[in-house]
Amino acid sequence: MKLSVVSSVLLSASSAFAFDYVIGVGKDERTGRKGMGFDPSSIHPSAGDTIVFEFRSGDHSAVQSSFASPCAGIDGGFNSGVQTVGDDLEVDAPGLPQIRLLVNDTQPLWFFDEAAGLCRDGAVFSVNPTQEQSPGVFVENAKNSPETPAPSDSDSEDSGSPDESAGGDGPAPTSDDSEGAALRVVAGMIWLGVLAPAFML
Ligand SMILES: *[C@@H]1O[C@H](CO)[C@@H](O)[C@H](O)[C@H]1NC(C)=O
Repeated sequence: MKLSVVSSVLLSASSAFAFDYVIGVGKDERTGRKGMGFDPSSIHPSAGDTIVFEFRSGDHSAVQSSFASPCAGIDGGFNSGVQTVGDDLEVDAPGLPQIRLLVNDTQPLWFFDEAAGLCRDGAVFSVNPTQEQSPGVFVENAKNSPETPAPSDSDSEDSGSPDESAGGDGPAPTSDDSEGAALRVVAGMIWLGVLAPAFML
């Protein structure tokens, strides 16, 4: 009895100290308006705190990356999925979509807004950055990232080859035509065979 009281007091104490960091995604931290990036773009949470990504107008996603490659998601990393919010909603409208991420330790975590496609412009977010791995260098790394359209270019090349083979299907309509012609001949023969004798009666 006493133990359960103690543990429930401890539980409520730890949850009282845990903090929600609400991070505006698609909100410009310099102007407080809808815009590029994260507001705030850098935080220092403790273990047990929660990052609450809150999404503004447009298509946005918070995707975990790495300090060295800010604009590339990491395998098994956090990904909020694409959140779409109508342009008519005010910057701090109530009920904006939120995705929560529990912080388990004070290791640095790195994120970018993949859906907005502005990572190289600095749409990145630092959690527990250090002196060496600072938010400023993270932004620099983002600016120096390879062009993000590169993968989609190769995608369109991939989709280009089916187009070429579709062009190779060009003769197909011709064979359809000859099939059609053959069908008309058959139909004509049926007409001659079935209806013509009927006229003769
Ligand atoms: C912290 O742990 C929870 C539960 O295991 C997990 O869902 C979450 O992704 C972890 N947070 C980070 C930042 O990895």
